[in-house]
Amino acid sequence: MPPSDAPARQSAVLDVKDLKVFFPTDDGLVRAVDGVTFSVNAGQTLAIVGESGSGKSVTALSVMRLVERAGARIAGGSIVLTRPDGSSSELTSLSEPEMARLRGREIAMVFQDPMSSLNPVFPVGDQIGEPLRIHRGHSRLEARLAAVELLALVGMSDPLRQVDAFAHQLSGGMRQRVMLAAALACDPMLLIADEPTTALDVTVQAQIIDLLRELQQARHMAMIFISHDLHLVRDVADRVAVMYASQVVEEGPVDAVLGRPAHPYTQALLSCIPRRGELRGRTQRMQPIPGSMPSAISAPAGCRFHARCAHARPVCLAAMPVLQTVAPAWSTRCVRWQELTP
Ligand SMILES: Nc1ncnc2c1ncn2[C@@H]1O[C@H](COP(=O)(O)OP(=O)(O)OP(=O)(O)O)[C@@H](O)[C@H]1O
Ligand code: SF4
Ligand SMILES: [Mg+2]
Repeated sequence: MPPSDAPARQSAVLDVKDLKVFFPTDDGLVRAVDGVTFSVNAGQTLAIVGESGSGKSVTALSVMRLVERAGARIAGGSIVLTRPDGSSSELTSLSEPEMARLRGREIAMVFQDPMSSLNPVFPVGDQIGEPLRIHRGHSRLEARLAAVELLALVGMSDPLRQVDAFAHQLSGGMRQRVMLAAALACDPMLLIADEPTTALDVTVQAQIIDLLRELQQARHMAMIFISHDLHLVRDVADRVAVMYASQVVEEGPVDAVLGRPAHPYTQALLSCIPRRGELRGRTQRMQPIPGSMPSAISAPAGCRFHARCAHARPVCLAAMPVLQTVAPAWSTRCVRWQELTP
């Protein structure tokens, strides 16, 4: 099968190609994202999954261009945002003022922990209305009225009262709804949700996920959904990118990748999760795969998964495997996938 570096990318809202994001540290260069390629279409959800430290959040923060604030440098690759009118922007080369005009308007993000993203000293209504004041020139009153409507949209009871609430007065689920309302204020083309429900209990988690899915479909938004929970991913996503040691090791349609995974790491991930219902009442997080991920400072030569892979052979160490096409729009970074796929 000929190597391919990317799946089909028609009408992609976001096209990320060979992205490299490095953190210079006293211990050496942390290659947090090292050649990541994926795309997301309008109306489509791409899930990004992988162990802790595999580079999911740094990938998301790079798309928002918030990663430089954390001390990183985008060392290579491209991130292209394409609008419905066909115009596009190469996000890696935008200045901060240009990025500020786009952030919150065309791309918005919901973080795992709303408490750290919401400002404790301003009512939540002000924070929901802020993007409208910045990007749409709304007056204070217009922004407040829009915030009430947005709170109703995300299912907050009594939005006229809650618009004046402070973050500490709300439950975790309500805070996450507020974050979602703020993210949706300017009707973004792309919504990035980084583990948006991990801090919530299972019932509230299900409500927020249903809401996300409904709003994404109604608005035909592209969504990147980062999660540890493969059951959720199966429910929410159209496509999935599996990250390991700063790279995407498999990407494709969710039913194919999670139903008949071609990469041994994806297979290992799937064999580690409890079946639905086995952890009744508890948030389902992945059980660890034996061994540990290599350091992002000194990645091994060849396949980065080889030390933990039961199928490793000398050929796996010869060179870093490139993404190979398993089927149209489905790729895997394993030299032995054809022998190993049932
Ligand atoms: N500010 C930073 N300085 C140095 N290294 C960092 C920094 N932020 C992240 N990293 C490193 O970048 C790599 C990727 O981290 P990232 O936060 O993207 O992982 P993740 O996949 O989101 O993990 P989790 O599932 O725990 O959220 C890790 O090796 C991490 O230690
Ligand atoms: S390339 Fe080799 S070591 Fe890497 S996942 Fe495939 S079989 Fe395992
Ligand atoms: Mg993360």
